[in-house]
Amino acid sequence: MADLRLPLLLIFLSIFYTTSATKANHTFHGRSRARAYIEAACRDTRYPDLCLRCLSGYVDRANATIHSSKDLAEYALSISLYRARYTRAFLVKVAKELKAMKAEEYLAVKDCLDQINLSVEQLSMSIKELRRLGHETKGDHDTIYWHISNVEAWVSSALTDASNCVDAFPGRRMSKLKATVKGKVQNVAELTSNALALFHRYAARYRGATAAATKP
Ligand SMILES: *[C@@H]1O[C@H](CO)[C@@H](O)[C@H](O)[C@H]1NC(C)=O
Ligand SMILES: *[C@@H]1O[C@H](CO)[C@@H](O)[C@H](O)[C@H]1NC(C)=O
Ligand SMILES: *[C@@H]1O[C@H](CO)[C@@H](O)[C@H](O)[C@H]1NC(C)=O
Repeated sequence: MADLRLPLLLIFLSIFYTTSATKANHTFHGRSRARAYIEAACRDTRYPDLCLRCLSGYVDRANATIHSSKDLAEYALSISLYRARYTRAFLVKVAKELKAMKAEEYLAVKDCLDQINLSVEQLSMSIKELRRLGHETKGDHDTIYWHISNVEAWVSSALTDASNCVDAFPGRRMSKLKATVKGKVQNVAELTSNALALFHRYAARYRGATAAATKP
């Protein structure tokens, strides 16, 4: 009996290793396909390196067999919203401190806070609208255009608001605090610019389809 144990153990081990190797192989290929998909999508954005960095989480999270430009746009928008909320919380804290100190920077930071607050609102509205658009695949052209133009308008406004705040801190010579505020808001603006590009990529499909359908 004892003689049989080793061969059996070897058989079990080899089955175990083969199945886990196949699984790892599938995961590996799924991931590299997802990565190639994201690299292609990021090439069209204004900040491709930032795009790759922030979407790399998508590779691990996504069901690697499904790549949809809608998912990617939604993921990019949700990262943008997350950063905007984080930056808003940071500015609330800084503004409170500056106000207490009666610092001259207070007004600039308060303005920025108001702008980012608007960005947060517009980004969350656009994510909801994007989900509605996703459910409208069989909707008529007008409804689809309506959702697309809402998302475009809101993401563009969010971008403008964040950029206005960046512009409020011009030049390179500034206090450390201003530089930190500027850096965080700039990050929101760049992420939002990328998310808008990824949304255009997704919406292009609808434009193509409706353009073809309405051709005489
Ligand atoms: C790994 O996956 C690739 C493509 O999916 C396939 O061609 C290859 O044979 C697989 N290798 C193993 C060891 O399963
Ligand atoms: C991944 O996608 C496939 C194909 O649509 C589906 O059958 C599977 O259940 C999905 N897996 C997960 C974990 O979502
Ligand atoms: C953001 O705006 C909303 C309404 O537009 C307001 O109620 C809220 O107090 C603002 N938050 C901050 C932190 O300014």
